[in-house]
Amino acid sequence: MKYFKEVFEKYDDLNATIQENVKAIRVVKAYVREEHEENRLRKASENIYRLFVRAENQVILNSPVMQLTVYACILFISWMGAHMVVTTSFTTGELMGLLTYCMNILISLMMISMIFVMMSMSIASAERVVEVINEEPDIVNPEDPIMEVKDGSIEFENVDFTYNKDGSGEPVLKDINLTIKSGETVGVIGGTGSGKSSLMMLISRLYDTSEGCVKVGGEDVRKYDLEVLRKEVSVVQQKNMLFSGTILENLRWGDKEASEEECIKACKLACADEFIQAMPEGYHTYIEQGGVNVSGGQRQRLCIARALLKKPKILILDDSTSAVDTATDARIRRAFAEEIPGTTKLIVSQRISSVEHADRIIVMDDGRIDGIGTHEELLQHNEIYRDVYESQTGGSGDFDEAGGQI
Ligand SMILES: Nc1ncnc2c1ncn2[C@@H]1O[C@H](COP(=O)(O)OP(=O)(O)O)[C@@H](O)[C@H]1O
Ligand SMILES: [Mg+2]
Repeated sequence: MKYFKEVFEKYDDLNATIQENVKAIRVVKAYVREEHEENRLRKASENIYRLFVRAENQVILNSPVMQLTVYACILFISWMGAHMVVTTSFTTGELMGLLTYCMNILISLMMISMIFVMMSMSIASAERVVEVINEEPDIVNPEDPIMEVKDGSIEFENVDFTYNKDGSGEPVLKDINLTIKSGETVGVIGGTGSGKSSLMMLISRLYDTSEGCVKVGGEDVRKYDLEVLRKEVSVVQQKNMLFSGTILENLRWGDKEASEEECIKACKLACADEFIQAMPEGYHTYIEQGGVNVSGGQRQRLCIARALLKKPKILILDDSTSAVDTATDARIRRAFAEEIPGTTKLIVSQRISSVEHADRIIVMDDGRIDGIGTHEELLQHNEIYRDVYESQTGGSGDFDEAGGQI
């Protein structure tokens, strides 16, 4: 049992290696890492091979031991029986009967020993299955949950946050205090790793805070029914995903009952309509697994359209126009301002041009809020913001100027 348990754990390594390789096959090729990856796979399989051989070495002993016992018994009975037939009134027929019974019993015992081997394998597997089934999610619905989100206001009160469940380790967010009114457009800017995505994930309660609380619509997010909350808080994540199926099917993740017209309207808002119409099968184009047959920017626009179909009270775009050109990015933002004015919009970006027209901009630095204000205020008072602005408009940044002027 001990050996089998070890074997099954090593299977995880093998599966992980294979999964990683298949998923990132282009990266492996681009970096000419085939040989290295092959070696890694070989090592993982060799590990399993060794452990299995060790486990089977024990199992294999089972058969000769059993056979030895069986034949020893037959020999013993025959010898004793023959002796008794000669010296007592024991008949040959009775001896034959006894032998047959013994054989039956011994064969059954052999079967049982085989069952033991099977059992130890299946118990090791079953334990692993049970481990997954019994895993308790950290974030659960409260008793007596609130079933309605009143409006799209957001509040952070003295929020600290670490990814470690026990609250240990360096906090990712420190001392966040923030109030966002319903319907406001707020930009969030900051370097990579400054905690922007983490801040956004707290709003739809993908994680719970370590200290302090996050309020949506005036109520602590921990009091809401999770489904209700996540329906009203629509997040387009940095690493967005499409699933295999037609474009329409993918869009209807946002709203199962959405009509084709509604889907088209959402796509127009997200500037996705134009490229979808250009595809031979339009909205019925089949998206391959992982969305590999659309470009990064197209995928981002589809994900925005999908999020819009939820008709959320809060819309969070976490760096989700990073692969969209600046002119289209500006058109998407303008469409949002005109078509969904009541929705609170949080736009996370690395580009000043994506956030500068927001009502307010939050500058994040190393898990803290470094400054909040409008574009002009921040340019005057916030050093980080000014530096980023200058680097992006001074010719050394990206081609942002056209986008910024729209
Ligand atoms: N799932 C995670 N588990 C542990 N640490 C994480 C996780 N995601 C992000 N971090 C850490 O949190 C910090 C902030 O990350 P993130 O919020 O993604 O930054 P940003 O979106 O601003 O680039 C980083 O230092 C990162 O290492
Ligand atoms: Mg991020």
